[in-house]
Amino acid sequence: MRTMTLGASHLTVPVVGVGCMRLNRLSVTEARQFLHRALELGANFFDHADVYGGGACEALFAEALEMTPRMRETVIIQSKCGLAPGQYDFSYEHILEAVDGSLRRLKTEYLDVLLLHRPDPLVEPEAVARAFDVLERAGKVRYFGVSNHKPAQIDLLRKFVRQPLWVNQLQLSIAHASMIAQGLAVNMLTDAAIDRDGSVLDYCRLHDITIQPWSPFQFGFFAGSFVDHPDFPELNQVLREVANQHGVNTTTIAIAWLLRHPARMQPIIGTMNLDRLAASVRASEVTISRDEWYRIYRAAGYPVP
Ligand SMILES: NC(=O)c1ccc[n+]([C@@H]2O[C@H](COP(=O)([O-])OP(=O)(O)OC[C@H]3O[C@@H](n4cnc5c(N)ncnc54)[C@H](OP(=O)(O)O)[C@@H]3O)[C@@H](O)[C@H]2O)c1
Repeated sequence: MRTMTLGASHLTVPVVGVGCMRLNRLSVTEARQFLHRALELGANFFDHADVYGGGACEALFAEALEMTPRMRETVIIQSKCGLAPGQYDFSYEHILEAVDGSLRRLKTEYLDVLLLHRPDPLVEPEAVARAFDVLERAGKVRYFGVSNHKPAQIDLLRKFVRQPLWVNQLQLSIAHASMIAQGLAVNMLTDAAIDRDGSVLDYCRLHDITIQPWSPFQFGFFAGSFVDHPDFPELNQVLREVANQHGVNTTTIAIAWLLRHPARMQPIIGTMNLDRLAASVRASEVTISRDEWYRIYRAAGYPVP
């Protein structure tokens, strides 16, 4: 699989990441098969969170891979912290405890990447900075980032946190592309012009922050996959035409559409299906044209004013 650097860091990662939020749907045997297939395909970047399956996804990951020091060097592990039941918690204590929990379940001594999961309105950035320093000094976390953050929230953290924030994981798919649409509709009196995220896409490009699109196949908030969905006839028609042109399927094109954006994004896929895993990874070898990118965009219902 094609690789890239995470932000402007020294960490080389595959351009498609494998999300483990749904891993606990699989048995240990199925998870082993799935994870080894991912590794065969070069997809060795795995996205976790302490809360996925209440911790079960991290534990199953380590069990299925029979985590050894050698295996640990093969995989790149990202996890997230800061969500607690019914609230968010970016306190010093919570961050340190959450990371220790993830390390224990993942049977590892370090995370390659740690993200703050969702902005905590009670964040004290000085406390985050202290926690990150402790984690870095102890060798427990190598690289840091955020998820679902807008520019001003990242700036607030950056005022205190010494480590670069190289990642912002955000919901983005062809059917959930407001961060792109608002850029085409600047200053218009239309819904597409509504700035929901503080121009996070441009901000991340300006600051070498890799956007990791989460739920790259979903529409709404986990409403289902738009691929072959009857509510998206025009989009699926165009996806099929572009897929035929490139000799691949529509799953591949859905990811290729994200990879075609020059922001150098790293989509995090969530499928637990072996065929869809392979089709998603295949996107790293497909470059769609500017015309195809715009055709898909328009077919998803976004205006090009
Ligand atoms: N930072 C955050 O706040 C946040 C939030 C949500 C997720 N995430 C991360 O992002 C990852 C991906 O999220 P997601 O699982 O919602 O993403 P997704 O890849 O958009 O959705 C995958 C789900 O869609 C189903 N699906 C049905 N048809 C599909 C098709 N044609 N192609 C692909 N999938 C199809 C999959 O089922 P099959 O398994 O049967 O293919 C699976 O249940 C998660 O694992 C997690 O790591 C982060």
